[in-house]
Amino acid sequence: MKGFIFDLDGVIVDTAKYHYLAWKQLADHLGIPFTIQDNEKFKGVSRKRCLELLLEMGDLQVSEEQFASWLEEKNADYLNYIATMDASEILPDVSRVLDFLRERNVPMALGSASKNAVPILEKVGLTDYFSTVVDGTQVVKAKPDPEVFLIAASRLHLPPEDCVVIEDAQAGIAAANTAGMYSLGIGAAEVLSEADAVFMNFTEMQPSFLEEILRLESKPHK
Ligand code: BG6
Ligand code: MG
Repeated sequence: MKGFIFDLDGVIVDTAKYHYLAWKQLADHLGIPFTIQDNEKFKGVSRKRCLELLLEMGDLQVSEEQFASWLEEKNADYLNYIATMDASEILPDVSRVLDFLRERNVPMALGSASKNAVPILEKVGLTDYFSTVVDGTQVVKAKPDPEVFLIAASRLHLPPEDCVVIEDAQAGIAAANTAGMYSLGIGAAEVLSEADAVFMNFTEMQPSFLEEILRLESKPHK
């Protein structure tokens, strides 16, 4: 394994909770029940697809104008939540892992479905770690489609099978697996059962594991 592709929301920063709060606010407004469990399906998924899922849950059909205005409403609420975000919101031990990889000259990319990825990276001061950022403004097909990670690998000048993807979402793990990349889950093993390896958080990811991954010739067969 030669390169690492990081998801952003729920991996580097805990923005997953702000996405949830903003969707919950809209769901309440529309009278659609929406729980933390429902939110699992929204992780890693584009803003537009999330709204489609929410409307399916409420069995609502709406005009294009209404759809666009709710998308905007959700994003405005989300932007409010992240307005004051700073480096204190970087998840524990993320910086340690980024430093470990940078010291070894391992190329790193960001692969996120979010259209807000660039400003968030700036806010938390991590932009310089990544040689390229592929975000929701640059992809046509949302995760679980592998497009975002395939673009990231090609920008790192690496074949997909030499790349490790770090993801907190089922859709993201599926995307990495379809791309033929090593999928590394951050979160609960029951939720991310399709991943090649899972850690609850970065604190549990020891340097010896990272060294082992960098020595891997290929992704293990499941
Ligand atoms: C992903 C999140 O990273 O970005 C999803 O996991 C979110 O929950 C998606 O819907 C799109 O984000 P944004 O910032 O463009 O609305
Ligand atoms: Mg995520």
